Amino acid sequence: MMRSALCSRAWAALLYSALIGCSADASALPSASIVSTVGNQVVLPCSWKPPLGEVAPPDCHIVWSTLVDTVFERRGVVRWEADEFQGRLEVPEERLRSGNCSLIIRDVQIADTGSYESFMVVNGARSKKTRVSLQTVKLSVYDHKTYQSHHPGEDFVLQLYTQHSMSVVFQGRDSSVWTDVWLREEGNSERVVKHPLLQQLTMRKVQHTDEGVYKVLDENGLAVSTVQLTVEENPAPSRQFRTQENIPTDVAASSSGSALLILPLLVCSLQIVRLV
Ligand SMILES: *[C@@H]1O[C@H](CO)[C@@H](O)[C@H](O)[C@H]1NC(C)=O
Repeated sequence: MMRSALCSRAWAALLYSALIGCSADASALPSASIVSTVGNQVVLPCSWKPPLGEVAPPDCHIVWSTLVDTVFERRGVVRWEADEFQGRLEVPEERLRSGNCSLIIRDVQIADTGSYESFMVVNGARSKKTRVSLQTVKLSVYDHKTYQSHHPGEDFVLQLYTQHSMSVVFQGRDSSVWTDVWLREEGNSERVVKHPLLQQLTMRKVQHTDEGVYKVLDENGLAVSTVQLTVEENPAPSRQFRTQENIPTDVAASSSGSALLILPLLVCSLQIVRLV
């Protein structure tokens, strides 16, 4: 109790003097912008210097809120977080004690996008609890957008990025309908198999009909990832010759012809190069 009171008084004095020293206007609070993609870990920055030469007592009370709700609180060893974050939030106690009130969000989700604000709860006048704002942070979480190209018969690996990815839907190249490719609750199918540990799927032996757009959706139906897949013909043998260096341009240009014709030409041209 003594320590708690000490903590609150020390912090309150500092916080108020700092705030009044700058401006009483809330918009003058330090603010930050954090941008990330689904599945990563982000750190919403927050810091406060404990009184000079001192370490903050262990039971300082920090609160992180969105515009709507409180999402995380820590007072000493006691912590609480909102249900929708399901074990994804943390302000490590030892860091808080040394003035680092940054909020760690693991496995960040599209729905986490928004404004966050941190507060120190202090004893105000007549022992009334007051929240003093420390930091505002705007968090933007985006989906992944990628392209993949495979040859027929190859395996297509699709990242799910997070355990909150619930389904994958597919729209064929010339189609307007979306069909289910994978549902987490239904598990593996003959062609689509999830890695036993990693958040990734493998679609076996792609064909031309697999060309199109794949969307990974989370439990809110929001897109976690969009992958454009193209399935190209297997490389023609002549292609390998074209990548050779030292082939004069006229020969290289004719390499679209049959490989049987090209081979003697190539041997020829290499000899020319050697002569030159
Ligand atoms: C504050 O803590 C966060 C994570 O808890 C860490 O990423 C960050 O580097 C720390 N900042 C400083 C200045 O130590």
